[in-house]
Amino acid sequence: SSTLASAAIVEHSFHVKNLTIGRLCRQRVITAVNGRLPGPTIRVHEGDTLVVQVFNESPYNITIHWHGIFQLLSPWADGPNMITQCPITPGRSYTYKFNVINQEGTLWWHGHVSLLRATVYGALIIRPKSGHEYPYPKPDKEVPILLGEWWNANVVDVENQAQITGGAPNISDAYTINGKPGDLYPCSQNPNQIYKLKVVEGKTYLLRIINAALNNQLFFKIANHKFTVVSVDASYTDPYVTDVVVIAPGQTTDVLLKADQPVGSYYMAARAYASAPQIPFDNTTTRGIVVYDGAASSANPLMPALPAFNDTPTAHKFYSNLTGLTDGPQWVPVPRQVDEHMFVTVGLALDRCAANATCQGPNGQRFSASMNNHSFQFPTSLSLLQAFFFNVGGIYTPNFPNNPPLKFDYTNPNVSNNTSLLFAPKLTSVKTLKFNSTVEIVLQNTALIAVENHPIHIHGFDFHVLAQGFGNYNAARDSKKFNLVNPQRRNTIAVPVGGWAVIRFQANNPGVWLVHCHLDVHLPWGLATAFVVENGPTPATRLPPPPADLPHC
Ligand code: C2O
Repeated sequence: SSTLASAAIVEHSFHVKNLTIGRLCRQRVITAVNGRLPGPTIRVHEGDTLVVQVFNESPYNITIHWHGIFQLLSPWADGPNMITQCPITPGRSYTYKFNVINQEGTLWWHGHVSLLRATVYGALIIRPKSGHEYPYPKPDKEVPILLGEWWNANVVDVENQAQITGGAPNISDAYTINGKPGDLYPCSQNPNQIYKLKVVEGKTYLLRIINAALNNQLFFKIANHKFTVVSVDASYTDPYVTDVVVIAPGQTTDVLLKADQPVGSYYMAARAYASAPQIPFDNTTTRGIVVYDGAASSANPLMPALPAFNDTPTAHKFYSNLTGLTDGPQWVPVPRQVDEHMFVTVGLALDRCAANATCQGPNGQRFSASMNNHSFQFPTSLSLLQAFFFNVGGIYTPNFPNNPPLKFDYTNPNVSNNTSLLFAPKLTSVKTLKFNSTVEIVLQNTALIAVENHPIHIHGFDFHVLAQGFGNYNAARDSKKFNLVNPQRRNTIAVPVGGWAVIRFQANNPGVWLVHCHLDVHLPWGLATAFVVENGPTPATRLPPPPADLPHC
């Protein structure tokens, strides 16, 4: 193979530091990479080695996660705080080094401490190695579209405030497209606050759309134009034509956009798909402009009609119609023999308010969240991966259950009275998986506190999405719907509101891999666990020792 001949080493330096930036009528100090929002775009070819030296020049602890990268035998570079490393403290640095293999498409990187990923994020683009082509018509131009979420307040304060009060965090003040809110917000009419995409009639553009928002799924449209989806989460899909994209935090969606409309200006716009309307959300709209070469500057751009915030049928149609491109590059067939069956409930929960405190969560308690009635507690003295590698006891327990403790009507809001389900114990419990075992997981949303769509992300793996639906999962009925031929492959699945999804993957990568809801605030609330994948039988399937500069706690 030509792999070694063409592989390159791609190097970057990330300076994480404070940046003063003007948005929505005020100057604000944010934490960002290399003085930019979004941060730098990383471009590699499949097979390359990526080396990123991260210098923490900010006042906060930081780590960087390479969302969706498999990190095959490089788990020390994965990045989630206290899972694979201790944080890079202010003034220190750490070098992330890993190979990018067996995947192509759009991924991204983001901070994985506190809510800092609100401003610490950027695109990570993996092109086919030289001499290899996309499995779709070559676009004339490629354009990253990073959808973000903006707070006027400092985001670390936003999280601390939620932790102290026990309530939900304050909602964001704007959404953004490539860091810019667009002209529907106060003081944002200045042209430099509006993202502009210039196109030429007849040309085709590959939009690499990334949802970097913290707490909201988004609908995205361009007036009068259709998209052809060609890839999600860096896995090629059968071409799927749609006029609207739905995208959950963590996910990516690559679409071909043909400039096939009359020369003119057209808005692109995004706003929330809010599946739990009883929980307050930011219902504002961000927009940018698509301007055709030769368009009159006086013309008013056309505005797309976005779906209503609660348009679950439109979201479900988009999410469930995608299929994998089985004859495309990097396709992996669905593993047929399942070794480990798991049924995992995902949902909100409660934590008791201290006797002498007032708490702003539901029923005067504190918000919490759980998987299989375990509310994940992050370790504080050593990362899980260090504890695993060096065999240090007392950091975690391998007792994450394969099934929930109780069977009940998961989607019936009346179960909220069941205190043994509501008040989930706080545990650092993980699930151990044998090397190369095939794991199938039924993810079942619960109606405890709120019925909500939770985007579940698994670090270190892509999984096939075999089926998804509403209500309680029923194995006899729903396993008949499994797509074992050409299911979409993802690293983040938006488990339908009041519903379920079934995923399958092969645990072929030793290490410790965080599994969590990508609604950012649900992570400190405990909607997480970790997979500890054991070493394989050969030297080439065993964990390497940590790099010398791995941060200490
Ligand atoms: Cu994109 Cu654990 O994260």
